Amino acid sequence: MARAPRPLIAGNWKMNGRRAAGLREARKLATRMRNQKQRRCDVLLCPPATLLAPMREALRGSRIALGGQDCHAAASGAHTGDIAAELLADTGCGYVIVGHSERRADHGERSRQVRAKAEAAHRAGLRAIICVGETAAERRRGRALEVVGEQLRHSLPKGCTAASTVIAYEPVWAIGTGLTATPDDVAEVHGFIRDRLRRRFKAEGAGMRILYGGSVKPGNAAELMAVADVDGALVGGASLTAADFWPIVKTCL
Ligand code: 13P
Repeated sequence: MARAPRPLIAGNWKMNGRRAAGLREARKLATRMRNQKQRRCDVLLCPPATLLAPMREALRGSRIALGGQDCHAAASGAHTGDIAAELLADTGCGYVIVGHSERRADHGERSRQVRAKAEAAHRAGLRAIICVGETAAERRRGRALEVVGEQLRHSLPKGCTAASTVIAYEPVWAIGTGLTATPDDVAEVHGFIRDRLRRRFKAEGAGMRILYGGSVKPGNAAELMAVADVDGALVGGASLTAADFWPIVKTCL
């Protein structure tokens, strides 16, 4: 049997994080990680772009990785306000989130664009965290797996590997709402995603990490992390303070 993927606990700060408070929380996490002997999972913070460079310094020596929240498909050029994957890599990022449902909703991003962004991430040597997930209406109509299947098919580039690509299943209705999918629902969707990844990417698909995201909190993380084919979490609100994020990290550490 293939070895289970090494879990990843990732914090997505979204459009939050003033410099003083944000760096204070990052330093607290870094200290806890440095004091930790056993490290059975990877930890990642994705702050707003304004904090990437100072956070790289705050996290130095902690082995907490740094990531962007989005990237442009092009390597450089006249794209005011956008960030190339190459620029994220140059700032010390190892990961970038692409296709988050908030970008799909706020910026009308389609899966084909998400795929181009994931290709850009790979070109720049970044790991791409590719997000998928159904809305409440789609789930009510019994279309959750169909929607996730279509997003996977069109958002993942050719040649994804276990090292280059992470999938995040984030049901849109569970994001920032305090609602979480039940362990049974999570098991169903993660099992479905694993099956699709295996079929398309063979052994690499079997080794790819599939994160759950959507109102992950200290109180529900252990239960969610115990579900089959859940290889970590993508955490929003509860990643903003060390007091909330550290207990979530500890469920995998
Ligand atoms: P919350 O944990 O705040 O629900 O956000 C989840 C998310 O969207 C992470 O990318």
